[in-house]
Amino acid sequence: MKQKGYADIVLGLQFGDEGKARVIDNLAQNYDIIARFNGGANAGHTIETDKGSFAARQIPSGIFYPKTTLYIGSGCAVNIEKLADEIEQLEKLGLDISTRLKISSLASIIQPHHILLDGLLGKTIGTTKNGIGPSYADRAMRMYGERIVNIRLADLVDQPKEFFDAILENFTEMQKQYKIKNTDAEKTVKALQKAFTKIKPFIELNPLYMEKRVEQGARVLFEGAQSVMLDVSKGSVPYVTSSNTIAAAAYTGGDLSPKYHRKTIGVVKAIMSRVGYGPFPPEFGGRKSELYTLEKVNGESKYTRTSEAKHDVEKLIKSDDPFDIGMALRILSGEYGTATKRPRRVGIFDLIQLNYAIKMNGVDELIVTKCDLLKEYSRTKEGKMPLVTGYELDGKKIAYVPGATGAFYRVKPIITYTESFSEDIAQVRTFAKLPKAVQKFVQTIEKASNCKIIGLGVGPKRDQYISLI
Ligand code: GDP
Ligand code: IMO
Ligand code: MG
Repeated sequence: MKQKGYADIVLGLQFGDEGKARVIDNLAQNYDIIARFNGGANAGHTIETDKGSFAARQIPSGIFYPKTTLYIGSGCAVNIEKLADEIEQLEKLGLDISTRLKISSLASIIQPHHILLDGLLGKTIGTTKNGIGPSYADRAMRMYGERIVNIRLADLVDQPKEFFDAILENFTEMQKQYKIKNTDAEKTVKALQKAFTKIKPFIELNPLYMEKRVEQGARVLFEGAQSVMLDVSKGSVPYVTSSNTIAAAAYTGGDLSPKYHRKTIGVVKAIMSRVGYGPFPPEFGGRKSELYTLEKVNGESKYTRTSEAKHDVEKLIKSDDPFDIGMALRILSGEYGTATKRPRRVGIFDLIQLNYAIKMNGVDELIVTKCDLLKEYSRTKEGKMPLVTGYELDGKKIAYVPGATGAFYRVKPIITYTESFSEDIAQVRTFAKLPKAVQKFVQTIEKASNCKIIGLGVGPKRDQYISLI
């Protein structure tokens, strides 16, 4: 009998954008299926290859491996039009994924009224305006009186007329409720119908597809979107996304029984980031930075990569004000949203938060990305590398992430400084050749987290990676 396969999970352990996609691109050759299990077009997963850079939103990050199946699980909230666009973009890049893309028919879709609602109500969280929250809310709501609000791909395949009519009705009802005029609802739904014809051939009607493949020997790598701190119940609620992002969710949303689980790999970045509102204790510049990065003009981000590039980075990084240091690090490390282009909030690597994420998810191995950027700390006035090694809440030391949002906002990080380095490590490929300060940084994380570090990112490109196994 053929040996059964197994499943591993790659998970972001911080606040998103840890470099999950580049890690998956590095690991993909060892797997037969790369599968998304949560979220939708709110994700922005960047891969840089010789063929150029691609920011995947809904398609799993195994695109550059021609034999790899790309599976979008039932836990995802599918934006049909954006998915059709993404398939077209890949075709333009010369990547034909038509024989290997599979979308679970049990996945719910993003409807026009979800996008409308997110635009109206999501501002105080700082959502990506993709309709993610309203779609997951409707999934749980199921019906709104007589109206079916949870619409899945299976329904659109089975009874297209009835369900596209339902989409239209949901949209017009919501427009009425919010007194929105002059929107051509029918035109919007027609465009959706057109996009549906593009993705329809990829819809997998067998809910046990993953089970079948793994029984036949397939090795699965689940690709987390968003991250542990953005989980709808375990993250920094309410400033989170609306799906479960943690390891256990890979099996509910990825349509496989957990009996096939082998290991969980966590991805963290050496200088942390966060987009949107919410507590972020190690943030350079604290609340000032949170509010600044989210300032808007005419609905668009006030500050961008281009506008911030005009600053004198050398002056900013030498400043006594952590807000300035944060801005300098953002400019130097290009921390601007893949999906929304917003400036990302930047913070010191946080060992307390890391421990929380590792224990909750049973993380077996860690990969640390963006180690190349640590050298920028040598340019600060302090000239040292900071690390958050403790939390203080209302004058008392604590060793956990508080559940209450107010308390998490009040946490003061305890920072420990170590020696820094100024060498460019982007070309280094072995641990032994890394500066002692980087080696020590890695060993400190390994010791504090009790987790094996299996790889280091030293640049965004495929080969800018040090394997430690
Ligand atoms: P994801 O959402 O977790 O897949 O991450 P994103 O793609 O949103 O953001 C990560 C960014 O960091 C992308 O622009 C990557 O190209 C880049 N990146 C990933 N790993 C490294 C690294 O080791 N060094 C540097 N300098 N950039 C990296
Ligand atoms: P990847 O997969 C970083 C954030 C948004 C906002 C909150 C809720 O690339 O790591 P949503 O649109 O999901 O309702 O927004 O979550 N957010 C992310 N931040 N990376 C992401 O995805 C994110 N997806 C959502 O900024 O604060
Ligand atoms: Mg991202």
